[in-house]
Amino acid sequence: MNVGIDQIGFYTPSYYLDLRDLAHARNEDPNKYLIGIGQERQAVPPASQDAVTMAANAAVQVVTPENRERISLIIFGTESGVDNSKSGAIYLQQLLGLKREARAFEIKQACYGATAGLQMAKDFVAAHPEQEALVVGADVARYGLGTPGEVTQGCGAIAMTISANPRTLAISPNSSVYSDDIMDFWRPLDHTVALVDGHYSNDIYQQFFQKTIHAYCEQQQTNLTDFQALTFHLPYSKLGLKALRTILPEVNEAHQQQWLTEFESSRVYNRQVGNLYTGSLYLSLLSLLDHAQGLTSGNQIGLFSYGSGAQGEFFAGTLQSEFQNSNRRKQIDEMLARRQRLDVNQYEEFFTQWPTFNTANVTIDPEPDDAEFVFTGVVDNKRQYRQR
Ligand code: COA
Repeated sequence: MNVGIDQIGFYTPSYYLDLRDLAHARNEDPNKYLIGIGQERQAVPPASQDAVTMAANAAVQVVTPENRERISLIIFGTESGVDNSKSGAIYLQQLLGLKREARAFEIKQACYGATAGLQMAKDFVAAHPEQEALVVGADVARYGLGTPGEVTQGCGAIAMTISANPRTLAISPNSSVYSDDIMDFWRPLDHTVALVDGHYSNDIYQQFFQKTIHAYCEQQQTNLTDFQALTFHLPYSKLGLKALRTILPEVNEAHQQQWLTEFESSRVYNRQVGNLYTGSLYLSLLSLLDHAQGLTSGNQIGLFSYGSGAQGEFFAGTLQSEFQNSNRRKQIDEMLARRQRLDVNQYEEFFTQWPTFNTANVTIDPEPDDAEFVFTGVVDNKRQYRQR
């Protein structure tokens, strides 16, 4: 029996910053951002969106009358959760009206949380094939105004239903993992922006990729050429390309070309949205599914997940018969096209107004935000959410 991703939903807020504008404001050559970093736009959250609302706006796309009653595991992967105790999964369960006979909790390990959730959900469904799991990765990536990491910000959420006989991607029963105590990216409890040693992080990411992909091939007695495409956690899209380039010499020229072509397919959405932290690998997967040049059902793709701190994991997925979905692609294209461009002053205002975490009572006007689920403020230290 195959187990894996049945459906994927994606949400990003309706505002963005064009990185050409940011380059001009920061006295940088735009090509550093467009080519050197590999990003064009970054999503900017309004005060009415946070990890919970973005997760709900993504999950509402994959919870249907058919699977609703089967969802008995809800895992919320995030690095930017809204409460130090209560999990985003409980808020999500309430907002979506999911059944109470469910296990619901949050996972944190930098950008790796959604993969931990996916692997746990896969084992759960393998043991209980009549049930399904909902796994979300939702984050706001914040490094700070004028910092080197600023160009690699972004926000959004991915939601996946995990089931037996999935329609999108069957996940390999095994994977290879590697972890070590690395101070490449972290966020102390009182910080609303991440601290990062960016160049060190890039090196560790590539080392973990090489370790885990080679360990996977050895353990599973499989060849690199068995993968028709490789997808990566993309905090910024150039980093995946750098990792991919490290293993190109290990395959022939035709295969190199194929991987490079599919890599371009896998970063279309990420280039427009920026960093989603936990959701980034799965946004890249979605981008590959929607833009693949030469993939067909039955093809195998490799997925590399990385969470600073650090945890790496490499696993494989087999494309299923409905891996391409023209409705899903149309909805994403429309969502990205509808977004409003902010100038740098507006972006800086949005940035300083977000987040609203340490206020006992505040009212947020959600009117300008067209999302279905919005954050409306805090009453007696309790966060308020609304579905429209
Ligand atoms: N045209 C084209 N490319 C240019 C360019 C230009 N005019 N100017 C610079 N570049 C290239 C550089 O050569 C470099 O490419 P390379 O990495 O392939 O060598 C790239 O642009 C970035 O330049 P660099 O000087 O290294 O940028 P930086 O020191 O400002 O920092 C990061 C870049 C990525 C390290 C920084 O944005 C960061 O720390 N981001 C956070 C990363 C992160 O989140 N890590 C943890 C999660 S995995």
